[in-house]
Amino acid sequence: MDKNKEKIAAEVARRRSFAIISHPDAGKTTMTEKLLLYGGAIHLAGTVKGRKADRHATSDWMEIEKQRGISVSSSVLQFEYENMCINILDTPGHQDFSEDTYRTLCAADSAVMMIDGARGVQEQTIKLFKVCRLRHIPIFTFINKMDRAAKNPFDLMDELEKVLGIFAVPYNWPIGTDGDFQGVYNRRLKQVELFHERGDHGASKIEAAVFKLDDPALKTVLNSYYLEKLTADLELLDLAGDEPDPQKILSGEQTPLFFGSALSNFGVEFFLREFIRMAPAPGARISAQGPIDPVDTPFSAFVFKIQANMNPDHHDRIAFIRINSGRFEKDMEVLHNRSGRKVKLAQLTQFMANDREIVEEAYAGDILGLFDPGLYHLGDSLSAGKRIDFEPIPVFPPEHFARVSARISMKRKQFQKGIEQLAEEGAIQVYQEPSIGTETYIIGVVGELQFDVLEFRLKNEYKVDLHIQHLPSRLARWVTCEDPAKMPQPGELKIGSSALEVLDKDDRLVLLFESEWASSWVEERNPGIKLLSIQDLEEAAQP
Ligand code: G4P
Repeated sequence: MDKNKEKIAAEVARRRSFAIISHPDAGKTTMTEKLLLYGGAIHLAGTVKGRKADRHATSDWMEIEKQRGISVSSSVLQFEYENMCINILDTPGHQDFSEDTYRTLCAADSAVMMIDGARGVQEQTIKLFKVCRLRHIPIFTFINKMDRAAKNPFDLMDELEKVLGIFAVPYNWPIGTDGDFQGVYNRRLKQVELFHERGDHGASKIEAAVFKLDDPALKTVLNSYYLEKLTADLELLDLAGDEPDPQKILSGEQTPLFFGSALSNFGVEFFLREFIRMAPAPGARISAQGPIDPVDTPFSAFVFKIQANMNPDHHDRIAFIRINSGRFEKDMEVLHNRSGRKVKLAQLTQFMANDREIVEEAYAGDILGLFDPGLYHLGDSLSAGKRIDFEPIPVFPPEHFARVSARISMKRKQFQKGIEQLAEEGAIQVYQEPSIGTETYIIGVVGELQFDVLEFRLKNEYKVDLHIQHLPSRLARWVTCEDPAKMPQPGELKIGSSALEVLDKDDRLVLLFESEWASSWVEERNPGIKLLSIQDLEEAAQP
């Protein structure tokens, strides 16, 4: 291997790019902050996260996130730990933004699942977990808030298996789970690690007091009740539990399980160490041209997220790319697959809080922000060598629809610009009623909260107040016809009042229905046509 490739191979091997998924409030923000603390990226945890009133983490950018205290858009943070280069992709916890999460997971090589020990597997955990499953990425589980009363740890393991269908392999085991947390037994290092609440909410790193199980000194600090219970638990685990199997972990069949408390830093560093040891480095990626090896192929990347106006002072638009192979060097020229144009990658940035750093070089697994003059779309590929087309990012079907217009018609231009922008970011899907001009659009979204984001962003970034009329429609079906010559024109189908007829951005005919039943009814009444969901349509278009 030549020197250049050796360097790339070494850099790729030390990269870990992952996303944290959780139900809101399970502690994802706290965990992100603590990982940054251990990575030396911040020095005092809590400095990036204010009080509840205006709570926002390092990775929260948009105004709406601060106001609502939820994380709307995904963002990326990079830090080094023990010579490993770690990229954390932040994902929105709110279910209305699962589409954004899905795209982010397309850029991750593994996921960390945070679970609140008292609540167990929650609704949003299930949804996000399913998304990880679709991508077959390994999942590491951290059961958080063990400093408080939690569910029985065996019941939690059972829940993971029954609800999510994943087998948990505990790497540590909690001692005292009724609000009397004493610490954990570290099954890998075979030692008891004792917990001390210091009262500073884990602002700085901690070192736990450590004892071997047979150390007589342990009896002086841990009540015999806990010791007996621990011994019984460990016996049961040894008898009934699975051994960790690296292959099963990589395929997402088994999940390494950790107990701890992100707020007090307890168990965070052990988790981080084990995670970087077991989580995969960037691997080969699927493309139309075959698998793309991260080391053997020159630079290639794909756009997984577009976000405008991240910095209100700049009015810029950023395309986030994940590097899939090779090395990025500042000012390199690459081929943009969709336009067929050569583009120069000049000012690429990496993100830390609100600071941006210009990047000189980066490697497969890294996430970069590209200033976007309006060239990039979600799923676009960039490559330094031959043309590469990475597999497209799947689209989520919209489930909520509304008729949207500007309150003041003079603002039409800004209105259109804002709508176009949000559509390109993938935040909304835009349709038009055939006989109506561009003053009114039909907007489809996956989660209803996205309408709030739409309203907020148009007001704040484009100074347009919206009129939003919510519609009863719940599903969109594309009209297809085996014989293209017989493809119906708008107004020709027999739909009665059961559907709303619209055109998508590519002028394809789409019907919006309130139910599956209504869709079947229209299909029956119009022989020759087939109504397809967006996923079926995409599948049909595959070669
Ligand atoms: P999220 O991003 O998943 O939504 O959760 P986040 O980290 O914001 O945590 C939600 C709440 O849970 C926060 O409390 C946080 O301090 C608390 N928390 C996180 N980890 C732990 C833990 O290990 N133990 C305990 N006891 N609490 C934890 P909050 O009151 O909503 O916010 P704040 O006032 O602390 O900022």
